[in-house]
Amino acid sequence: MKHFLDLAACSKEELQDYLELALQLKAEWRAGGNQPILRGKTLGMIFQKPSLRTRVSFEMGMKHLGGDAIMLGPREIGLGVRESVPDVARVLSSYVQGIMARVYDHGDVLQLARFSRVPVINGLSDDYHPCQALADMLTIHEQFGTLRGVKLAFVGDGNNVAASVALACAQFGLDFRIATPEGYEMKAPIREQALEIAERNGSSLLMCTRPEMALADADVIYTDTWISMGQEAESAERMDEFTAFQVNASLLRYARPDAIVMHCLPAHRGHEITDEIMDGSRSRIFAQAENRLHAQKAILARLLA
Ligand code: CP
Ligand code: NVA
Repeated sequence: MKHFLDLAACSKEELQDYLELALQLKAEWRAGGNQPILRGKTLGMIFQKPSLRTRVSFEMGMKHLGGDAIMLGPREIGLGVRESVPDVARVLSSYVQGIMARVYDHGDVLQLARFSRVPVINGLSDDYHPCQALADMLTIHEQFGTLRGVKLAFVGDGNNVAASVALACAQFGLDFRIATPEGYEMKAPIREQALEIAERNGSSLLMCTRPEMALADADVIYTDTWISMGQEAESAERMDEFTAFQVNASLLRYARPDAIVMHCLPAHRGHEITDEIMDGSRSRIFAQAENRLHAQKAILARLLA
């Protein structure tokens, strides 16, 4: 059975297919609506963490395709606390046709997939955010008409979003550079994974600690929060370490004049990104948020139809 857990586990062809289908479903939706290819199907959505985009775009995506979705917040099931992860997978997958899960420990999403009788989609774990990165590739493709050879600079924390964006770049042939403070690099195994895929696909991956170096000649500048969900206790320390990694007008001078700015959201305005850049003409941040809907419909269509 096919799941969508992280981008390293997908083939290049699968990812290309998701992207093309997302473009088709987006055009179809804008022209009046999608076909009800998921009629009679329900997605169970497990959330251990809060969400706006993931929750609403999955729920609306299911509805647009003729199906339904059930929200299961942390209080409802207490994944791994009230009941073991395998038991939740066994029971939930006897009621619904697909499971989307947002968890802390990536191992939980792997365990859900292992014990589920229906496809499981990773809606963000501490390690990865593959739905976000697929939607981001859609946004970049719409902007440049291609993905191969586009240079993406990620500035900030080597977190779950950075990991999935790095893997997406490696898979789709974009050149990826990341500038993080020392000690906040992408995790070594993920870095190795991304590097191996990039080498196979003839694209590059560079890691550094100076934002202006990552930005040189970049077409896309990408950032995310300095404090991810679950890291709140490290807030003060992180705010200090990341000050020089703010995406602002003076940093953007190092990128190409036509470079666009992306952020997965939620943003902490005045911290990792300024109002001026978020609301400025180079920002594609809100188009990027909308594309979550279209990219995920492609995943749902392929996994659940
Ligand atoms: N970008 C993203 O996943 O947003 P939410 O946390 O609101 O779902
Ligand atoms: N890195 C962030 C992404 C939120 C969508 C987090 O994990 O909180």
